[in-house]
Amino acid sequence: PAMEHHMWHHPATRRNVETLRQDGATIVESERGYLASGAQGDGRLGSRASILFAVRSVLGRAGQLSGRRVVVSAGGTREALDPVRYIGNRSSGTMGLALALAAVDAGANVTLVATPAVDGERWGGPVVEVESATAMQQAVTGAVEEADVLIMAAAVSDFRPRTPSARKIKKQAGEDTISLELVKNPDIVKVIEKPGMVKIGFAAETDNLMVNAQSKLVSKGLDMIVANDAVRTIGSDRSQATLIFGDRPPAELPELDKHDLAARVMAEVTRLVHDRERHA
Ligand code: C5P
Repeated sequence: PAMEHHMWHHPATRRNVETLRQDGATIVESERGYLASGAQGDGRLGSRASILFAVRSVLGRAGQLSGRRVVVSAGGTREALDPVRYIGNRSSGTMGLALALAAVDAGANVTLVATPAVDGERWGGPVVEVESATAMQQAVTGAVEEADVLIMAAAVSDFRPRTPSARKIKKQAGEDTISLELVKNPDIVKVIEKPGMVKIGFAAETDNLMVNAQSKLVSKGLDMIVANDAVRTIGSDRSQATLIFGDRPPAELPELDKHDLAARVMAEVTRLVHDRERHA
């Protein structure tokens, strides 16, 4: 729906929208903002992303992950140095976003935990916004309580400044170098242990990709790890990945658009979820 504020809040409109809802229609909620008249208020047509998200949810709802809850983390974390600066990485969040959308297409109820790198206009659904690894850990830990699947696609900073400055760090006369002390962040996917939940991780490496990915699969207690070359995948719309499992030989995929890769990953996630349910 899209209309003027007073029309949207009129009792007749409210009644009619409620009737449509009870008849099973999905309503893409209108938003607050500038209206056609130039006034501001409720009733503005939902964003293109929110309309697309609703369409995907409806078309996917009878899918293979229908009724399952999937938590996806996306984007690179930011570790504050002071109120204006942070240590970050080049992750664009494209892969996490593609996975979250693929899970929606498969009928899952998706919680997206995203850093500012993730373009909300390409998602359209509800999002838990975080910046630091610590905040991401808190959000993911809360979200997995109800979850059947955790996909950690986020590029989580391994370290953070020990004590972020409360004020902007200033240059000092005569000081040509400064030192930062960094402390290790928790390994989110490793410390989350939930019996029965399928855990998926990513490995982006510049060296010894397969060996490193294989050891992360084991040390982090994952059911599958998506291994790819760090330099070629970060910030790109495409990726060449190998899927490594605990229960079967690896599958080397061709270079794919990240949305196509996400669909392949989601097919494996579906298999792992169904296997687990059969053996539960
Ligand atoms: O150890 P590395 O950072 O290469 O591991 C990558 C995988 O582990 C990714 O799935 C990433 O989201 C996850 N991770 C995490 N918490 C960290 C570091 C990485 O969950 N502190």
